[in-house]
Amino acid sequence: MATIILAVSRTTCPVYLFLFLMVVVLLPSPSLSADSDPLQDFCVADLNGKPSLNGFPCKPASEVSSDDFFFSGFTQEGDTNNRFGVNVTGGNVLAFPALNTLGLSMNRVDFAPGGINPPHSHPRATEAGVVIKGKLLVGFVTTANVFYSKVLTEGEMFVIPRGLMHFQINVGDGKALAFTTFNSQLPGAVIFSSTLFATRPTIPNQVLTKAFQVDDDIINTLKSKLS
Ligand code: GLV
Ligand code: MN
Repeated sequence: MATIILAVSRTTCPVYLFLFLMVVVLLPSPSLSADSDPLQDFCVADLNGKPSLNGFPCKPASEVSSDDFFFSGFTQEGDTNNRFGVNVTGGNVLAFPALNTLGLSMNRVDFAPGGINPPHSHPRATEAGVVIKGKLLVGFVTTANVFYSKVLTEGEMFVIPRGLMHFQINVGDGKALAFTTFNSQLPGAVIFSSTLFATRPTIPNQVLTKAFQVDDDIINTLKSKLS
């Protein structure tokens, strides 16, 4: 690095040197774009310990066995008998402690016909997914309000950049199934309908009527349906 800076400073004016240094300093570190890299072979979470920096303390290696590294939570179809017709089975560190500090996790997502995984975002992870069965309309919206979407069928894959609002809806005739994966052991999910209308305590109608430019009746209906 010092050699590069020296070379630049000899051949260019101070303004270019300043700009070059700014770019070097401001370039985001890859290690900040997802969970930090593991510092050891494994760190099976001691779920009774306190989380620290999106991680748990490690179980003593002497207590770790093969079973810690295998997870059967995705073998059963999720129960989609609910108002959204969807079931998300989480395979994150809380369900599968061996993911602790490894910077990844997965979900199994089952859809009834017409079922929707409602608009949500993951504050801590980018999501990639693959459709295993059925036909899904997958969409996301950028911070510039551009909507990208496509209907995907078996074997097709999608990606949702970190933090962006997205959804999947089953547009096929039967059930659908997708597996999703995240570059975080605990990506978190902000489900916008619940975030706005099903909080405890509730967000004052004064805020929601103004934000959505509708009257109290509509806000009260949304609150009662979603709470
Ligand atoms: C799908 O969007 C998921 O979060 O699993
Ligand atoms: Mn998602």
